[in-house]
Amino acid sequence: MCGIVGYVGKQKAAPLIIEGLKRLEYRGYDSAGVAVLQDGRFAVAKKTGRVANLEGETAKHRLHGTHGIGHTRWATHGGVTDANAHPHVSSDGKIALIHNGVIENYAHIKKFLLGKGYTFSSETDTEVLCNLIAYHYAKEPAAANGDSRFVESVRKTLRHAEGTYGIVIMALDLPGELVTARKGSPLILGLGDGETLVASDVSAIVSRTQNVVYLKDGEIAHLTPTTCAITTLSSGTVQTVVDKVTWSIADSELGAHAHFMEKEIFEQPTALENAMRGRFAEDGSTARFGGLNITPGEFRTVDRFMFCACGTALHACMVTEHLIERFARIPVECDYASEFRYRNAPLFRNSLFFVMSQSGETIDTLAALREAKRKGYKVLAINNVVGSTIAREADGGIYQHVGPEVGVASTKAFTSQLLIGAMLALYIGRMRDLSFSEGTEIVNALKGTPDLVRQALAQAPHIKAIAKRFAKVTDMLFLGRMSLFPIALEGALKLKEISYIHAEGYPAAEMKHGPIALISEECPSVFFAPNNELFNKVVSSMQEIKARKGPIIAIITEDAELPAGLADEVIRIPRCHEAVLPIVASIPVQLLSYYIAVERGCDVDKPRNLAKSVTVE
Ligand code: M6R
Repeated sequence: MCGIVGYVGKQKAAPLIIEGLKRLEYRGYDSAGVAVLQDGRFAVAKKTGRVANLEGETAKHRLHGTHGIGHTRWATHGGVTDANAHPHVSSDGKIALIHNGVIENYAHIKKFLLGKGYTFSSETDTEVLCNLIAYHYAKEPAAANGDSRFVESVRKTLRHAEGTYGIVIMALDLPGELVTARKGSPLILGLGDGETLVASDVSAIVSRTQNVVYLKDGEIAHLTPTTCAITTLSSGTVQTVVDKVTWSIADSELGAHAHFMEKEIFEQPTALENAMRGRFAEDGSTARFGGLNITPGEFRTVDRFMFCACGTALHACMVTEHLIERFARIPVECDYASEFRYRNAPLFRNSLFFVMSQSGETIDTLAALREAKRKGYKVLAINNVVGSTIAREADGGIYQHVGPEVGVASTKAFTSQLLIGAMLALYIGRMRDLSFSEGTEIVNALKGTPDLVRQALAQAPHIKAIAKRFAKVTDMLFLGRMSLFPIALEGALKLKEISYIHAEGYPAAEMKHGPIALISEECPSVFFAPNNELFNKVVSSMQEIKARKGPIIAIITEDAELPAGLADEVIRIPRCHEAVLPIVASIPVQLLSYYIAVERGCDVDKPRNLAKSVTVE
């Protein structure tokens, strides 16, 4: 949550920072602000609402300095007000700071600082950091260990800070210098030509440079236009490793689409092709992965898999559970990462852990990974963002390779997680009881996924019309069985996130144990009814809803036939292999949620109260 950008170089900082903040707006959009060091003072502009509001505000401040910081906020401590917007400036006016994270012991630090005469002008936890840095900076002599006084005052401050932070700081008397540090919140440094940037995400950097450094937890970087010196909280030196970003700015631009969510829904055939490229064995009977860092022999000793994730990624884990148990006959357990990290679950000796996370920065998923590693387990990660914290802390893993996902509602990242989950199930299954011919059948099915998704996407105009019809409802149920139960959960999550309609996902047969009480003419049910062994059972569940006058939207495979008049609306998807079905079935519910949200006039890419990656507890 919160997006941060810092710039030091030769160009005017404010326009570059604002361009970066626009790309980071998905991380929070309660307020935005920028501070530029110019004419011997901090010129600060802040405004509640979107970065566009801030842009108007900055025009009044004539921001011409070449050294600045900016922030887009997802509020934690303190309401959505101009005063609580970042950057914050210390009460002695010497230090300006932006922060992504939560300082848990801020009350204690604040008390100390009030005693020292510092004052506070916001309700945020962040303001204690800039006042504490100012306090140490004022006291700090030239540092004994050769570090600058600036870095040392930040280091001293952070030794007292409990919680999470990604921070960027400017000192009034040090034009051309930034200090940045992280613990639990992502920070990436961009090393350009005579300029250095720092941001929460590469999308705010790639228009200036593709040379990046992923800062690690516990590291502090001292930046000038031409240098980048990294040390640790305990004063150790760190070798700077420069990586190259492989995607370009065009990947995170809207193009002809109205919303990123729409763009990403329609990108899915290509995204899936990218996610599976080069990942099938030459004999065509199994998958292969480059970065698992685990031998087939080690895999064979596993007698239980444990998957942890949050939100949409957890739904992808639940489908993967189904497929691993089907293809490999090994028990799988899925858990909310936020629960696993605290519940001290008894674990099997030969368990192998997976975490799934698009961003690779979700704090609960990261904590679950750390908890499993602390207990001595290997943890592998399925993750989209290259170089993310989760990717770096995992023992190995699989990248999704679908490019940046900007829409807060996950779509292409989800279907690629489903695809990778299916490939993993195949890979593990082929080490156990799946035969060569069963393996080739699954491989061929998986290779056909992008085309099947294209066919499902062709239903968009029909789904748009259905969305128009149901856009005013206040409740909706999503019902599916087996591997489509998690897709029902996902359909409900998508709808509530972006259209604010109350929605629930259930196993279709479970509906009569309670949720059926919600059924009325005003509460439609979306049923997944593929033509498989449970088709007639699902049809019976539909009859129970129909008997109570509940409208039905049925998503059926093209070879299925429903009793006449049972469904109010029918969406047909291509018939497909069970490994692929959850992917293809996801498309209509993504489109339905999207079109309903648009019809209701909702801000699809920036739903209220949400942020793309949840880096606070
Ligand atoms: O980046 P992650 O995959 O770890 O994110 C997990 C959830 O926060 C995320 O999937 C969330 O549920 C999405 N907004 C769903 O659309």
